Amino acid sequence: MNPIEPASPHAEVRRGLEGVVADKTSISEVDGQRCQLIYRGYHIDELVGRAAYEEVSFLLLQGALPTRAQLAEWTAQLAAATALEPTLLALLQSLPRRAEPMAILRTAISFLGISDDAGDAAEVSLEAIRRKAVRTIALTPAIVAAIGRMRAGEPILPPKAGLGHAANFLYMLLGGEPNRQAVEALDAYFVLLADHGFNASTFTARTVTSTHSDYYSAITAAIGSLKGPLHGAANRKAMEMLTEIGSDEQVEPYVQRTLADHKRFMGFGHRVYKGEDPRAKHLKAIAKRLGEAAGEPKWFTISERLQEAVWRAKKLYINVDFYSASLLHYLGIPTELFTTMFACARMAGWSAHVIEEASDSRLIRPLALYVGPRDLKFVPLDQR
Ligand code: CMC
Repeated sequence: MNPIEPASPHAEVRRGLEGVVADKTSISEVDGQRCQLIYRGYHIDELVGRAAYEEVSFLLLQGALPTRAQLAEWTAQLAAATALEPTLLALLQSLPRRAEPMAILRTAISFLGISDDAGDAAEVSLEAIRRKAVRTIALTPAIVAAIGRMRAGEPILPPKAGLGHAANFLYMLLGGEPNRQAVEALDAYFVLLADHGFNASTFTARTVTSTHSDYYSAITAAIGSLKGPLHGAANRKAMEMLTEIGSDEQVEPYVQRTLADHKRFMGFGHRVYKGEDPRAKHLKAIAKRLGEAAGEPKWFTISERLQEAVWRAKKLYINVDFYSASLLHYLGIPTELFTTMFACARMAGWSAHVIEEASDSRLIRPLALYVGPRDLKFVPLDQR
């Protein structure tokens, strides 16, 4: 079809763009039939627990795993960009403390677009985008930790030299030296959520980039998309659901109530995967270990009972957000911050997609099938 023609009334409308292949990518493959997720050729099972987020973010952005020297340089670049600049700190402190964390994060990232130290926020060369990506990947956990500290009425903590990406986040949010199990758990969470094909937020970032707009606009828009409960906020909603259930015995009544009210089970179902989300088993195993170590297996056992009950009732598989909920809870992260944790992880994927889109882009501009009235005659205002 000629792209400038209106859509034919017989055109097939693919609502939600379901099944539409919008472009090519070499960043990640979401294989819905085989329930596999691949980053740059590596199955996530190969990476999780073996590669740190620093390595995986390098892989996603640069296309190959780093050598030891490349990793050292990349880690140093990230570490150098982690501290909050005074203007950003002042902005965060000026916002209402109880404001929604994702709204604060969206505002903060948008602000980075006008405080870029080199004064070239709008520059769209690939080198400039890479530099902005390093800055944003490094700063996002610091922003999220600062949001958490301010909500708790605690002083903001600067990053600690020598700690890695995940460890530094835990330090900046919770204070004190984070234990090894917690660091490994968060690192694995960041790795598992680092990228996921053309999901809604990534596609949003690519759409913005396809207009030749700037990196920060693309990431700000992506955060707005992730904020929705059908996407990133499902992890927060899943924790609220577990909290509402409260005990093993309440699982079945909750399931029956939810079915009767025609509501959705948060952390269940997926547009692409026809079976279980390949990230879920890893998150489940980590949540289980954390629950046992904390001597508080309750949230894990409620989750497991719920997983079984929803399967029996509706044959729905869990998705990435389901066991993210108990995992993040066990790490001591407040529920209101959960979706911003997803954003911390996805920053690498979004950035890689902005670079890929910017390097070979065509304006993203689908058609709509008009179904409104036609041939109406204008009626002057005083006659309506
Ligand atoms: N609970 C109850 N029913 C569900 C659910 C669910 N979680 N997911 C799908 N269904 C039902 C839905 O009600 C519908 O039934 P019916 O045809 O009788 O109305 C049918 O399945 C198809 O639903 P759909 O919304 O057309 O399917 P979709 O492919 O667009 O849905 C989804 C994908 C993720 C939006 C949906 O499964 C959902 O709302 N899940 C809950 C929210 C969630 O966990 N989101 C995280 C998604 S994965 C990670 C991420 O992107 O952040």
